[in-house]
Amino acid sequence: MENLLDRLHRDHANLNRLLRLLEAEGERIHAGGNEDLALMADIIEYMESYPDVSHHPLEDALIEHYLTHHAPDAEVAARFRNTMAEHTALRTATHALRESIESLLNDVLMPRDALLRQLNDYIALQRRHLQREERELFPRLRTAFGEADWQAVAARHPAGADPLFSERLDNQFRGLLERILASEDGPR
Ligand SMILES: [Fe+2]
Repeated sequence: MENLLDRLHRDHANLNRLLRLLEAEGERIHAGGNEDLALMADIIEYMESYPDVSHHPLEDALIEHYLTHHAPDAEVAARFRNTMAEHTALRTATHALRESIESLLNDVLMPRDALLRQLNDYIALQRRHLQREERELFPRLRTAFGEADWQAVAARHPAGADPLFSERLDNQFRGLLERILASEDGPR
């Protein structure tokens, strides 16, 4: 069985690839270029198809197991409950961004500044969250958990396939994958 932390860390690296693409999109809008709504819609679709329904629930399950079986002090427990609350906030933010993009796709006018602000806030929220998990949550679990802990969580939380960054590529994300690879190929 693949180590769950390795998988979560790989997910984070992939999420950062998407955030870089979103950031480049923001820079283009900022420079007066036309926004690529289809690209942003694809990224949001992926966020709602994997991170929000598989990656975050797996982290929640690990945190709940940790809180239940490893009795951390109150401060650490509060921090990790906060991480779970951030998952809810991220889902809400993803949904709000989807609504903005869908409005624009339906020709509802939205000031570019507002879109840009929302996009930048979204990227910042995601990045802060990823960094906090890498810095606080993952090292803590790596130290505290033994094989039985990993097995217990994995048994209760069957892994959902990543529809973009795995061999189980979903056709709807083929174009997005090509865009990611093309953006990483080009000059930095
Ligand atoms: Fe995460």
